[in-house]
Amino acid sequence: MRLLGGWHALVLSDRASWHDLDAALEHPELPRLAARPIQTNEVGRSWTLLPCFLELARRTGAETFDLSELGSSAGFNLLWDRYRHTYEAGTWGSADALLELDGVERTAVPAELLELEPRVRHRVGIDLDPVDVTSEEGALRLRSFIWPGQEGRLERLDRAIEAVRREPPRLLCGDLVELLPGLLAERDPDVLTVVFQTAVLGYLHDDGWDRVQGSLATAGRDGSLAFVWTARPAEDVHGYWGLWLELWPGNGPELLAHADFHGAWLEWLV
Ligand SMILES: C[S@@+](CC[C@H](N)C(=O)[O-])C[C@H]1O[C@@H](n2cnc3c(N)ncnc32)[C@H](O)[C@@H]1O
Repeated sequence: MRLLGGWHALVLSDRASWHDLDAALEHPELPRLAARPIQTNEVGRSWTLLPCFLELARRTGAETFDLSELGSSAGFNLLWDRYRHTYEAGTWGSADALLELDGVERTAVPAELLELEPRVRHRVGIDLDPVDVTSEEGALRLRSFIWPGQEGRLERLDRAIEAVRREPPRLLCGDLVELLPGLLAERDPDVLTVVFQTAVLGYLHDDGWDRVQGSLATAGRDGSLAFVWTARPAEDVHGYWGLWLELWPGNGPELLAHADFHGAWLEWLV
């Protein structure tokens, strides 16, 4: 996959063609490009996250959020409130947004949720390997790890890159397991802190997830904290994931929705 990502980077920047493998393999830049770790950031997930954040606003009455994303990559999903989202019951977000997202609703998102407009005050992401898409190199890296031919995804990615370039979120470089307690300790008790992660759990080292849950539970004792995350909806379910919510003070984790890994469909459950 690294090799194909490197070759794709050469094709996308007009330095090689899919029709000439020999020339691509001999390109002096290929060894460097093929050595890059695979890195992705799927902005379609914002379309499935938005109803979860609106549900949080409904339950807490919070009008303002401070957002922290774990494993944020380039930070595309930290900007979910900058995109326009379309559901069967209506649209949410600015009409002149750079990026419009939609998908298939297997059960519809309730219209009442779409009337809520929580404001994001601060946003911060943590990633072991944050991608700076304000640079051409960073943007090319993410573009090269989209499968060739998936033009719709590539176009969506390019719009997300433009959105980040317009308003780059703060991205911290480091291990989320180590950095999360410090971030939580700094939070403002008067504003709801919303921590979220998509597609990151599988990368954590053995006790990483336990430590993340421990940090959240400790911070949650002071209240005003929510966590939204993707994980299996049940032990024996594969092929799609659940969107989970935990709110402090509250009653433990709750499954809000089933969703496609890249945000193509959503089944709202509550
Ligand atoms: C599959 S990508 C998902 C990126 C983004 N959350 C999304 O949904 O598009 C996984 C991300 O998690 C990051 N990651 C994995 N383990 C991490 C850790 N221990 N601390 C911080 N980031 C981590 C990777 O660098 C990568 O950016």
